[in-house]
Amino acid sequence: MTHAAQSNSMGLAEGDKGDKGRCAIVTGGSEGIGLATSRALAANGAYVFMLGRDAAKMQTAIAETDPAIADRLVPFIGDVTDASTRQALVAATVERFGGPDILVNNAGGGSENRFLEDIDQDDFHRVMALNLDSSFDLCRLVVPFMKARNFGRIINVSSVAGRDAGRLSGPQYAAAKAGMIGMSRHLSRDLGPFGITVNSVAPGFVMTDRAYRKWEKRSDKERAAMLDGVPAGRFGTPEEIAAAVLYFASELSGYTNGACLDVNGGSFRA
Ligand SMILES: NC(=O)c1ccc[n+]([C@@H]2O[C@H](COP(=O)([O-])OP(=O)(O)OC[C@H]3O[C@@H](n4cnc5c(N)ncnc54)[C@H](OP(=O)(O)O)[C@@H]3O)[C@@H](O)[C@H]2O)c1
Repeated sequence: MTHAAQSNSMGLAEGDKGDKGRCAIVTGGSEGIGLATSRALAANGAYVFMLGRDAAKMQTAIAETDPAIADRLVPFIGDVTDASTRQALVAATVERFGGPDILVNNAGGGSENRFLEDIDQDDFHRVMALNLDSSFDLCRLVVPFMKARNFGRIINVSSVAGRDAGRLSGPQYAAAKAGMIGMSRHLSRDLGPFGITVNSVAPGFVMTDRAYRKWEKRSDKERAAMLDGVPAGRFGTPEEIAAAVLYFASELSGYTNGACLDVNGGSFRA
């Protein structure tokens, strides 16, 4: 290939695709990592359906976004654990864009109890439903549209807890997040022949509001131990996680399939 044939484009914008920009779904898009991801995708030309439950929070998130890209953010209110919400979300992308090109399964978390003895089966299933079941179902719902275009990008937001062990979260969360990585790897084999990549990102600790609520309950000793474990000497930012998701969502990553990218300041390396 000559240098002239190469492009700096991420392949998400109008013109890259020949008609409208790429269409993306980001679950949990109104805050934290999901909001930073939605903004990064929109800044690179994609139209982003952002899912969240709280309409006022969503409205504020869009109002506080650079007006130059805010019109590419499409709010969608609902709970990702609700099957009819997931179906309606995908249907909305079909109506406006013929289906999603990019799916970011980001909504997650939910493990308040950290120790086995405090976790009952309902708690386990609640965390699995939020993180893993919803991601599995959304993959199932979007793939027919991606296959029809011979293009798709699925990114599952896992966690260092699914690679190693969580310090602020429990084994139910580790199980769900490890499940997302295993599912991504398996789907990458099945879907690769259709131009669809499925990768995961495993963030270390990122001080979002939700993470802060857990952090503030920990002792000074526990906090110091967490920070000591990060060679970078600091925690990550939502934008640093979004940058990894953006790469997997772009045309540039077409030959990267089934990977899990650790974005954790060096605290865990496979
Ligand atoms: N922060 C970290 O340190 C960290 C580390 C590793 C992995 N992660 C993972 O990264 C992802 C994002 O974490 P975050 O810290 O950025 O979260 P966050 O700041 O708490 O943001 C959560 C987003 O998800 C939405 N949301 C939550 N539950 C939802 C539901 N049931 N249905 C639809 N939307 C829902 C929230 O809006 P509403 O409340 O309005 O619904 C909000 O937009 C999660 O999967 C988490 O497990 C985070």
